[in-house]
Amino acid sequence: MASVEVAFGAALTPLFDDEESLVARAVDKRRWEFRAGRHCARLALGELGMSAAPLLSSPDRAPIWPAGIVGSITHTGAGSHAYAAAVVARSDEVRALGLDAELAEPLAEGLWPRVLLPAERAFVDALPEPERGLVAMLHFSAKEAFYKCQYPLTRRFLEFQDVEVRFELERNSFRARLQVAPKNDDFALAGQFAWGDELLVTAVELGV
Ligand SMILES: CC(C)(COP(=O)(O)OP(=O)(O)OC[C@H]1O[C@@H](n2cnc3c(N)ncnc32)[C@H](O)[C@@H]1OP(=O)(O)O)[C@@H](O)C(=O)NCCC(=O)NCCS
Repeated sequence: MASVEVAFGAALTPLFDDEESLVARAVDKRRWEFRAGRHCARLALGELGMSAAPLLSSPDRAPIWPAGIVGSITHTGAGSHAYAAAVVARSDEVRALGLDAELAEPLAEGLWPRVLLPAERAFVDALPEPERGLVAMLHFSAKEAFYKCQYPLTRRFLEFQDVEVRFELERNSFRARLQVAPKNDDFALAGQFAWGDELLVTAVELGV
């Protein structure tokens, strides 16, 4: 497995023409994040011995990884707070990966009912006040990472309430699983998270 991250100001590798055409009419923010994500993916793929090649997207925006590779891309923030990262692995070692980064800001309370299941809400409410909003944001991020991990295998759209997350904050880990049918453990995923002053990042993997 290999991962690469970049922040605003880093020198980025140029896009291939076919990649460039995917963002030709996009605003500057979108152009930066797309290019930064491709830059990270390219370097990470290089660490696995893959030569540089266009990394295109399917119409649903999921990246089309080279044969034998799974991966995930994320970006967040803008201007001097912009950040992007990618993680990749060989598909004979890992079945799927999901990565998500968010600015380390509290999740707006108006979104909590949409994002959090009752047990998750109880977990958040039991925390000291300064942590609640950030841990709510961690739940948001973990569910986005879960979504990105399962999507290439299922092509299934999920709502936040379809995914249940249980955090062990002191271990920087969580477990995430489908809360809707099929409620089997095919997608019971182990995840890890990191949080700092500016960013929080969640990652999940599905083993082979
Ligand atoms: C894909 C999604 C989860 C995150 O996108 P985002 O908010 O723009 O967040 P990020 O920047 O972290 O991730 C974007 C990257 O994810 C990847 N991505 C996009 N759609 C994807 C999908 N369906 N499956 C896997 N990866 C996907 C792409 O690489 C994209 O970057 P790129 O367009 O530059 O290549 C979101 O846009 C989405 O489609 N949500 C619908 C479902 C959902 O959120 N349900 C609630 C959680 S269960």
